[in-house]
Amino acid sequence: MTQSIDSHLNEERLFPVPETFAARAHLDQSEYQRLQAEAERDPEAFWGTLAREHLLWEQPFSRVLDQGEAPFYRWFTDGSLNVAKNCIDRHLQGAQKHKAALIWEGEDGSVKTLTYAQLHREVSLFANTLRGEKVESGDRVVIYMPMVIEAVVAMLACARIGAVHSVVFGGFSAEALKDRLEDTGARILLTADGAYRGGKIVPLKRHADQALLREHEHQVERVIVLQRTGTDIDMLDGRDLWWHEAIAGQSAHCPAPALPAEHPLFILYTSGSTGKPKGILHSSAGYLLWAKLTSRWSFDLKEDDVYWCTADVGWITGHSYVVYGPLANGATVFLYEGAPMYPQPDRFWSMVERHGISVLYTAPTAVRAFMKMGDSWVKKHDLSSLRLLGSVGEPMNPEAWIWYRDVIGGGKCPIVDTWWQTETGGHMIAPLPGVSANKPGSCALPLPGISAKVVNEQGEEIDAADQGGYLVIDRPWPGMLRGVWGNPERYVQTYWGKFGNRYYIAGDSARRDKDGYFWVMGRIDDVLNVSGHRLGTAEIESALVAHPAVAEAAVVGIPHEIKGEAVSAFVILKAAHQGDDHDQLSAALRAQVTDLIGAIARPDDIHFVDSLPKTRSGKIMRRLLRAQARGEEITQDISTLED
Ligand code: PRX
Repeated sequence: MTQSIDSHLNEERLFPVPETFAARAHLDQSEYQRLQAEAERDPEAFWGTLAREHLLWEQPFSRVLDQGEAPFYRWFTDGSLNVAKNCIDRHLQGAQKHKAALIWEGEDGSVKTLTYAQLHREVSLFANTLRGEKVESGDRVVIYMPMVIEAVVAMLACARIGAVHSVVFGGFSAEALKDRLEDTGARILLTADGAYRGGKIVPLKRHADQALLREHEHQVERVIVLQRTGTDIDMLDGRDLWWHEAIAGQSAHCPAPALPAEHPLFILYTSGSTGKPKGILHSSAGYLLWAKLTSRWSFDLKEDDVYWCTADVGWITGHSYVVYGPLANGATVFLYEGAPMYPQPDRFWSMVERHGISVLYTAPTAVRAFMKMGDSWVKKHDLSSLRLLGSVGEPMNPEAWIWYRDVIGGGKCPIVDTWWQTETGGHMIAPLPGVSANKPGSCALPLPGISAKVVNEQGEEIDAADQGGYLVIDRPWPGMLRGVWGNPERYVQTYWGKFGNRYYIAGDSARRDKDGYFWVMGRIDDVLNVSGHRLGTAEIESALVAHPAVAEAAVVGIPHEIKGEAVSAFVILKAAHQGDDHDQLSAALRAQVTDLIGAIARPDDIHFVDSLPKTRSGKIMRRLLRAQARGEEITQDISTLED
């Protein structure tokens, strides 16, 4: 855990909050301190006030937090609301009705804009379609779609009628989709004939067909298919329906029922250190409150902003910061369908210029990739509309940070490096733009209401500035996950177990400097962070072992210039395959991982070995493999090594 502590230690640069920014920001230093003090004094009063002020309730709540079954915390339990109504209907008064809710640009350059009134209509039509399919409150609906307006419509339509959506990233394989269909028990799958990506077509419907083979244990009875690419696909009679046919003739009036505050809103799968990905469960009011507040605070969203979060809706960032947070704030959200460098490396900057993007939220891996292409692609465009830049997914290395600030932000935009997770629902630690001076590579201070700490192995708070430890949250917050779908024990064990339910354990290591700033160092468990996406070593290993030639496999992360971390695999072949051609096998194993998980998990290099270093208890010593994969000398303690 102490290995990466040095990485940012020498970073002393400080960029103060621009004065003009602080004067106009939703939160400034004094307001931030007032909120933090209030949260400290009486957390329930603090959250209760915010929830009353920022959400539209059908039935007001009288109780803020129910700790009866901690760590299964429940929020605003006797209140009720409708999430879709908070994101759409709320904004249908007066002129706001005609404000653009979504501006979408396809990879082919076509542009579509939907006002709040038009979004309301589309969501109502599709919600009625789902109702017509007998989708009831609490039923699961899996969404496996491209980054198109209909994906957002589908999510909000589910929210409107109380169906629980589970979005599966379109880059995931048929096998990954199959697992999620089975685990959620969804009866309905929403997909598209294909998705455009880098000038090619990803055959989503074909993947869906593979996932739905009869021998699988899914419950899907209906597949609704959006026509996007015109790809030739099979439509199964009695099961598959075209989206445009399904909505034809539906009513544009769809009542939005009052749903209990704790009604489940969505399940989103994410990797853990062991076993298959876990379905992180979020509920309605608490999640929405946190997505809304954090969008407002971190991005300082204003009436005339054109806001762009580059994440796909298949990730939590897309849930909280493409859909729920910004729409709950009545913002104008820009969406882009395709690959970042298509057809040229200036695609992003061309869109920023043409659409007048004012707030841009992206990931360090993208920043590094653009940086590598050279400044000239950026300089071709006028980016003066930008006023704030955000970052998410992994720590931003200072070099990329400075480039982002200077070349993209013209040296004038605050950089909001947001630390959070699928499980936290929204931002937890970030330099709020009107509050905290920037230090390149640090996510600065906890947001109002959030109590974050760094603790040692015994659970004691660490106060030395040069020491790292476990990053924990020691008070519940409304946006927190409500559990792991179908597996309550895994929730308790993974997130709370280590310190006797005292803290939420994020799984990251961090240190705090003399100003209390947090510096996240990385994961402490066997989870990799490839291009800002979480991948469990266990998942990739089981994909490798599923190949007939492989006896055993171990996977570690190695530093990568663009991706942050790349996958490096160590493989032991079965005796009968010892003589097989290694190049061919490497190619086959990469294809195998792509098929079983998706291209993001594909190993960059594969080492064929005779044995794996293990402890006497049989645990693979990954730190030794990491050292070997990185070409480092092994200086670590190997006294527990078996062989
Ligand atoms: O290790 C942290 C890293 O990403 C993990 C969460 O991954 P996921 O649930 O997929 O959500 C990604 C989008 C929120 C964290 O445990 N991480 C995320 N943001 C940052 C980060 N590490 C450092 N700095 C960040 N800003």
